[in-house]
Amino acid sequence: MLNGVSKKATDLDFAIQSLKEELQAVDDYNQRAEMAEDPELKEILIHNRNEEMEHAVMVIEWMRRNEFEFGKELEDYIFRQGKIVGIEAQVMGRDGAPSKGEESKELNKSRSLNIGSLKK
Ligand SMILES: [Fe+2]
Repeated sequence: MLNGVSKKATDLDFAIQSLKEELQAVDDYNQRAEMAEDPELKEILIHNRNEEMEHAVMVIEWMRRNEFEFGKELEDYIFRQGKIVGIEAQVMGRDGAPSKGEESKELNKSRSLNIGSLKK
């Protein structure tokens, strides 16, 4: 545990450090895969890059489950259609976006459309 820091904050620190390392590994493998001349080495590096993505996403899922605010942000932004900055405006109730009360109905509507389109 870090000095003077709660167990919860320490675990979040471990998760964030791990996420940074996984994303750095994704970047490293991605650049090496692009530069590698041997086709089999390129294939291995792409495989390894994709495994690092899996590791990163597992940490993000842990953060979603254990950090309420992080989970809320993911709920607002992940698997949505349209402009990403536009989602913020919708969530914040700007630019004629639905009021706070209407917003969750709008978000749920757009989410269910997304899920439906994935099933097709
Ligand atoms: Fe990894």
